[in-house]
Amino acid sequence: MKKNIAILPGDGIGQEIMPHAVKALHVIAEKYNHHFEFHEVEVGGAAFEKYGSHFPEQTKKICEQADAVLFGSVGGPVSEAHLPKWKNCERNSILALRKTLNLSMNLRPASVYPALAASCPLKDHVIKNGIDLLIVRELLGDIYFGEHKRWHQDNISFASDVAEYNEKQISSIAHRAFQLAKLRRGKLTSVDKANVLETSKLWREVVSHIALDYPDVIFENMLVDNCAMQLVIDPAQFDVILTANLFGDILSDLAAALPGSLGLMPSASLNENGFGLYEPSGGSAPDIAGKNKANPIGQILSAALLLRYSFGFYEEADAIEMAVQGALRSHYRTADIYHEGLQLVTTEQMASAIIERIL
Ligand code: IPM
Ligand code: MG
Repeated sequence: MKKNIAILPGDGIGQEIMPHAVKALHVIAEKYNHHFEFHEVEVGGAAFEKYGSHFPEQTKKICEQADAVLFGSVGGPVSEAHLPKWKNCERNSILALRKTLNLSMNLRPASVYPALAASCPLKDHVIKNGIDLLIVRELLGDIYFGEHKRWHQDNISFASDVAEYNEKQISSIAHRAFQLAKLRRGKLTSVDKANVLETSKLWREVVSHIALDYPDVIFENMLVDNCAMQLVIDPAQFDVILTANLFGDILSDLAAALPGSLGLMPSASLNENGFGLYEPSGGSAPDIAGKNKANPIGQILSAALLLRYSFGFYEEADAIEMAVQGALRSHYRTADIYHEGLQLVTTEQMASAIIERIL
């Protein structure tokens, strides 16, 4: 099948690990008889250098014409954050992409592979039942897209950020999350702060009402502060966690710590028709960029999610995920997940070990 994929490596390690994910897709195309066309364009600081914009028209056009987007990461070193190249880089590129492409749902799976149990920071008795959860994060509402404002009064600076949700946004993501829960272990935890926030009260009303349509899914509401604690003391209780934009941002980093490294984590951001952008959950990691040290797994697994969610290529996605597990079982470890007794490898060696196993 012919598919057109936009490739946006971005900055930092994005440029380093993206070629390996593209290579994995080439191998899949060959093995399963697909025809993938790749269109690579700049985003973030790399785009700013060339076009004076973090999200230029050219990049927008390529994304809109594509069947799916594979994204790396954007942003520069903290010490250079004041330079125009990096100022508001993440906001101007990632948030603009989400808005332009209408990516209202973000999926962030977190699982602890048996081969990686030793990298999990939690105690053995906590993870003995395995961890396999999926965070479903609403991506176009909440405090991210309300008005951001600064003003002065009586010589004092003020700032405010408005959080807003409407019923339609909540019900749309809730239905999709329940459908995903049905395909998994059939449990959904909706996370909010309904003891304080009006947006959360609306969230809880709408989601609880929709839960009645899915009697085969075990449903519960949980407050976000409690959820943060539960993710540490008993993460095995969770299957699907459905939550709003800001809570999802925070909880997904917490959950990403469970497998032992952000570098392992893929994510998918989808619109209502299944069109999606796929990216590793980690950032551009300027401190290790260009050193052949970064973990390519998050980027390669993002390519697997792309195959599964945007193209419905389940077997192909499984092949990539099994290849990753195979490389980990063979004790290959990049620096972020390395510990004594295992084999420390570079970005390139890890990627080759995975690609060999796809073949
Ligand atoms: C994420 C990131 C972004 C977010 C930032 C870079 C704007 O943290 O994708 O989780 O907050 O959504
Ligand atoms: Mg985040």
